[in-house]
Amino acid sequence: MIEAGPLILRPWKLSDAEALVRHANNRKIWLNLRDRFPHPYTQADARAWCALHAADTNSPHNFAIEFQGEAIGAIGLEFFTDVHRKTAEIGYWLGEPMWGRGFATAAVKAVSEYAFAAFDLCRLQATVFQWNPASARVLEKAGYTMEGRLRSYIFKDNLVCDALMYARVRQ
Ligand SMILES: CC(C)(COP(=O)(O)OP(=O)(O)OC[C@H]1O[C@@H](n2cnc3c(N)ncnc32)[C@H](O)[C@@H]1OP(=O)(O)O)[C@@H](O)C(=O)NCCC(=O)NCCS
Repeated sequence: MIEAGPLILRPWKLSDAEALVRHANNRKIWLNLRDRFPHPYTQADARAWCALHAADTNSPHNFAIEFQGEAIGAIGLEFFTDVHRKTAEIGYWLGEPMWGRGFATAAVKAVSEYAFAAFDLCRLQATVFQWNPASARVLEKAGYTMEGRLRSYIFKDNLVCDALMYARVRQ
């Protein structure tokens, strides 16, 4: 469990499924994530996610973002392999009613510090779709630097777009 201001970042529980559907079933969230994030986001999707990650208690790297006792979003790390094995991608989303309160920034800062302390990583990165200035700002506030624009790197919602590569390296 990680404390981040008013938030608790903790492993998923089966009982989070209902709140997960309520917050995740939102096209504005889907539009900024990989296509493997379901839309519409069903009860079955939520139960499967919670069941998969409730078991993830050994070196957890997928967390529910809890606020006032409710799971309001997700944050996690995806570890790369081979010569990139000291790099992980950080991914996150929050339910729309929770936007604009500094919550994503608090969560990204906390998980970035946890990631460097708990795992043998040199680099954390995120690729932000070109239409997502809020996420770019979150990363900047959490100590990430924009390294470049990956031209035509994303095909989302039938549109080809650029991505911004943000990274934070171990000090
Ligand atoms: C991106 C997201 C996580 C941001 O969460 P949040 O809790 O609202 O973020 P914060 O409140 O910590 O910070 C948002 C910052 O973006 C700024 N911002 C918001 N909309 C903006 C816009 N259209 N243009 C420029 N800046 C914007 C805010 O003003 C704030 O910066 P500030 O503190 O300097 O004023 C949330 O909108 C979300 O879940 N989006 C859908 C999923 C997603 O994009 N995930 C990330 C994929 S890389």
